[in-house]
Amino acid sequence: MKDVYIGIIGLGNVGSGTLAILAANADQIALKLGFRLKVAAVCSRSVASVTLPPGLGDDVVRTTDWRDVVSNPKVDIVAELVGGTGTAREMIDGAIAHGKSIVTANKELMALAGAEIWDTAIKANINLAMEASVAGGIPIHAVLREGISGDRVVALAGILNGTSNYILTEMERRGESFDKILAEAQALGYAEANPGADVDGFDARSKLAILAALAFGERITPSDIFVEGIRRITAQDFDYAHQLGHTIRLVCGARQTEQGLILSVRPALIPQTTILASVKGAYNAVWVKGQFGGDTFYYGRGAGANPTGVAVVSDLMRVAREIRSGSPERVSPFAHERLGEYKPVPVTLQHRAYYLRFLVNDRPGIIAELAGILAAKQIGLEAVLQLPCETKHDLPFVITVEPTSELAVQEAVAEMSKLDFLREPPLALPMEPPL
Ligand code: HSE
Repeated sequence: MKDVYIGIIGLGNVGSGTLAILAANADQIALKLGFRLKVAAVCSRSVASVTLPPGLGDDVVRTTDWRDVVSNPKVDIVAELVGGTGTAREMIDGAIAHGKSIVTANKELMALAGAEIWDTAIKANINLAMEASVAGGIPIHAVLREGISGDRVVALAGILNGTSNYILTEMERRGESFDKILAEAQALGYAEANPGADVDGFDARSKLAILAALAFGERITPSDIFVEGIRRITAQDFDYAHQLGHTIRLVCGARQTEQGLILSVRPALIPQTTILASVKGAYNAVWVKGQFGGDTFYYGRGAGANPTGVAVVSDLMRVAREIRSGSPERVSPFAHERLGEYKPVPVTLQHRAYYLRFLVNDRPGIIAELAGILAAKQIGLEAVLQLPCETKHDLPFVITVEPTSELAVQEAVAEMSKLDFLREPPLALPMEPPL
C-alpha cells in the first residue's frame, strides 16, 4: 500500500518526542499498518538549528512558514503541535482547506471550538484526532470514543493537571506551603514561570470540557465548568483532611444528577481509601462510572515528550489507516449528535458535605457566631476540629457540615466573610463521596 506522509508544525517538547518515536519505531509502525508513515515536512521558528533524528530520511522539507506544510501536496496529515488559539486555528483551518487530515495536541483550541472544527473537517471529508490534548499518556479518548462507548457514562472524575497534583502531593508529603513547593517546582522546570493556567485550574478545565463532551455527547465549553484553583490550600488543610480520613486533590468532576450535568474543577476532599487518592506527583488519572459496566480507572503520565508523543503517533497511525482504507465512517471525538440529555447546570445545585476552614483572630464566641449563620441557612453542623496552634492571631480551625446545597454554603460563606475576627474569607471545599 502507498505510504502516508506527515507534516509536523511545532518542534517543541511534543513535536520532538513525536519525531523521535516516528524514527525509532518506523519499522514496527510499518508492520502494524502495512505501509510506511513518513515525515514529509517539519516547521518551527528555529528549524534551521534543529537536528532531526536519524531514520527520518534525507528528503524532509524544513520550513519556518506553516503555510508551506499545509499546502504541501505530498502531505496527507498535518500534526498541529503548537498550541494556543490564535495561529493554531489558522493552521488547522488551512490544513482543512487543503484537504489534509489533522492530528492535534491542542486542548485549549479543542475545548473552545473543537465541535465546530470537527463539523468543518467532516464536511471536507478529512479526519481530526486529538488524543494528545487530554492526559497525554493515557489513551482516554480511545476509551470513551470506542472502548466503553456502548455504555452510558453517569459520572467521571479526573486528576488532569500534573503540575497541581505534584504541588499538592508534595505539600502533603512534606508539610510545606504552596508558595515554597511552587517555587521549587518552577526552579526544577516542573511548573511554568507564569503558573496560572495550571494552579488556577484553567488547563484542567479545558481538558475536562473535552472529556465531558466525549463522555456525555454534549457540546460543552469551558465556561460551562465551575473552576477554582489550589492557591489557598495550606499544609494544615492536609492535616485536617487526614484527621477526617481524607486527602485533597484538584478534582475534575462531571456528574449526571436529576437536575442536569454538574461540571467542576476544584480542590476537594476525597476519602483516602479511594483509588484517586493514590495518584501522586505529576501523574494523571481518569475514573469513569458507566451505568452498565460500572467503574473503570485509567492512570498514566499526563505530559512529557514521550508519553504525549506516543499519543500523537498513535493518532497519526489511526488517521493514516483510515486514509488508506478509505473509511468514510469517522467516530466523532464529540461522541454523537446532541441528545440534550446532559444539560450542564450550575454547580450551586450540587449537594455535598463541605469542609469549611477558618483563619481567625481568636476571641470568645467565634464558633457561636459561625454556627448561627449555618443554622439560619438550615445547614447541619457535623464536626468541629482544632489542631494545637501556637498563635491566637492566625488560628486555623475547621467545621464540617452535613450534605447541603452549594448555594447555601456559598451564601453562608459570603455572610461569614463580613465577620471581623476572620483573617481571610472561609475556605469551603466539597467532600466528594466515592464515584
Ligand atoms: N501543564 C500540564 C500539566 C501539562 O501540568 O498537567 C500539559 O497539559
